[in-house]
Amino acid sequence: MSLSSPRCRRLVSAARQAAEAAYAPYSKFPVGAAVLTASGRIFTGCNVENASYGLSCCAERTAVFKAVAGGARKIVAVAVYTLTLKPTLPCGACRQVIHEFGPKAVILCACRSREPIETTLDQLLPGAFGPAALRSR
Ligand code: THU
Repeated sequence: MSLSSPRCRRLVSAARQAAEAAYAPYSKFPVGAAVLTASGRIFTGCNVENASYGLSCCAERTAVFKAVAGGARKIVAVAVYTLTLKPTLPCGACRQVIHEFGPKAVILCACRSREPIETTLDQLLPGAFGPAALRSR
């Protein structure tokens, strides 16, 4: 997936727009995410915080759960957008959740100043625990 491809730019742009809906009154750290499915659909999400801080949900997980609730099961790419000077990589919990539906997903991390960075889920979460482990009992 080339960073300059229209598909990639569309995904990053969807993540940037999604960040506008972020509910982040506590951290003041808005995040947007966009998930591209194998069938070419895009699902977006933002972080949604809670007064009971630990119940907050990251943008990536919001987007993945929306994709699955919308009938998708195969994730090929995830874009993350933050209003920072350096790109932000998905947190550990989100890496695990993305792994379930996109173990080889391309991860694009964009911010307001630099070019996006591109990596893959298997680079971010090597040796991941996943569905296969439960089948090998
Ligand atoms: N956050 C995300 O939405 N995605 C990440 O990958 C990192 C962190 C959110 C969680 C919380 O609402 C805020 O950013 C600060 O941690």
